[in-house]
Amino acid sequence: MKNRFNKKLVTLAVSSLTIGAVAACSSAETEQAPAQPAEQSIAADFAFQNAVSAPPPGYQGPVFQLSHDYPTEDPGQCPQSECPWLYIDVDFTSGVPVNWEEGPWNDYIMAIMSVVVRGQDPNMPNEVGFRTKIDGETMWYHVPWMAYDPTAGREFAHGTTNERTAHLSDFIGSPMPNATMLQSMSPSCQAQFPHGFESWAVGMYNKWGGYALGQAIPDTGEPALTTLEGQTVPKGLPFPEGTMVTKFLTTNATPECVPYLANSAVWLVNRHEVAPDRQYLCQRALQETRLTQVDVAVVDERSPTRWVYGTFGYSAEADGDTVLARLVPLGLQWGSDPNTFPAVTAQDSQPATESVLNLDVGIYEHWGCASRLAGPVDNPQSSCVSCHGSAFAAADGAISVMGTNVPPSFGFTGICEAGGSPENAAYFANYPFPQAYPDPKYAGAIPLDTSLQLEVAFTQYATFANNGKPTACTNPDQF
Ligand code: HEC
Repeated sequence: MKNRFNKKLVTLAVSSLTIGAVAACSSAETEQAPAQPAEQSIAADFAFQNAVSAPPPGYQGPVFQLSHDYPTEDPGQCPQSECPWLYIDVDFTSGVPVNWEEGPWNDYIMAIMSVVVRGQDPNMPNEVGFRTKIDGETMWYHVPWMAYDPTAGREFAHGTTNERTAHLSDFIGSPMPNATMLQSMSPSCQAQFPHGFESWAVGMYNKWGGYALGQAIPDTGEPALTTLEGQTVPKGLPFPEGTMVTKFLTTNATPECVPYLANSAVWLVNRHEVAPDRQYLCQRALQETRLTQVDVAVVDERSPTRWVYGTFGYSAEADGDTVLARLVPLGLQWGSDPNTFPAVTAQDSQPATESVLNLDVGIYEHWGCASRLAGPVDNPQSSCVSCHGSAFAAADGAISVMGTNVPPSFGFTGICEAGGSPENAAYFANYPFPQAYPDPKYAGAIPLDTSLQLEVAFTQYATFANNGKPTACTNPDQF
């Protein structure tokens, strides 16, 4: 019951700031309590709590508020003013390699960014963070159930999460560890951070995405399922055209270690402390973290997967007077290139045609597997669309375990190496919603239309429903 207790503290701590939202929350609780079985109102409590723990006494900084007043009416076709990228002439099916300079790619990704930055403070200072309300209107919605897991769940300052739900001891040494090295680190820096850097990120959906989220996880906090083309799927999915998602990623790397982070936004987030030997611990404290990457994803029916993913990297060297102006577009990806290594053998491989990389960047390594797109803090053996395509929930309400009852999003033995292996062929395939993951091993898994935040949410709900409590955080063995 620790979480419920903490949640009450969060509510108290923020009540003076966000009276409207808190009132909406507690009235839902009190209205539901008599009519619903007790478990349901507890599910809603956990689903929509703001953070895994409350701010410490005397904390004066920003307090994250989960934006979950999802639209209940279909927002309809997205107009040019809201989705300018949908009105740019673009061909995602040419089947030939494309380059950044020749084509509408820069215009496309900058059109997305122009909407992301609307109403935001251009320097993203700690006190402000990312605004979900602009001029009093809610523009952005968060995914519920991401403040349940004490290891990686949302922290109270900016609502960031530590990428994936795992035990801290798994972070190091797994095929795709959570803490990674960044490019252009000096050797002394590597010695200072032998366990790499942690990435804490916060993602939000626009109105079109929020409309789908609210149906997939309604007020009860329990995922709602339906059947589509013979598949069990969450209600409200697929995300409608017009959906846009953005994710702000921060790193605990310092500018001394990674010079291109100089003068980036510095946020104080409640993240893992480090042991004397620099391993990351369960214990959390408010510590600095810097904006390094901004990811975007949109539903565009012209894409063979219906999705287009894109990413920006922060660069101290870029022209621009503000933090947001120094975000450099790195590339776009609209498919996993199923005819390119390692989906096929090196012999059969054709050049990649479903990613376009901005090569005129210099400082960043942002190649994923075999010329596909990945971000600077992503694993170079994967790619945006390949990893996101593998977003599934376990069948029959089971707790998901990647590689067992849901696809191995974070990798498997031989990823990006064993060309043509069944695992690589499945991981680098295109299979739009609601198709099953191409590996029959995961036949019953529920497709989540590329939303890995929804995968976290479904896993956390299943943990709650099966165990009644979140999985405890475990420290690494030795420090
Ligand atoms: C190896 C896996 C992996 C790769 C590669 C990856 N991501 Fe993600 N991404 C995740 C996970 C896990 C989450 C959800 C957890 C979180 O945000 O804490 C996520 C969340 C997101 C979200 C929020 C929407 C959602 O899915 O719930 C966006 C947008 C996003 N990523 C974009 C990108 C882009 C753009 C790239 C490539 C530049 C990329 N991702 C590469 C694993 C990956």
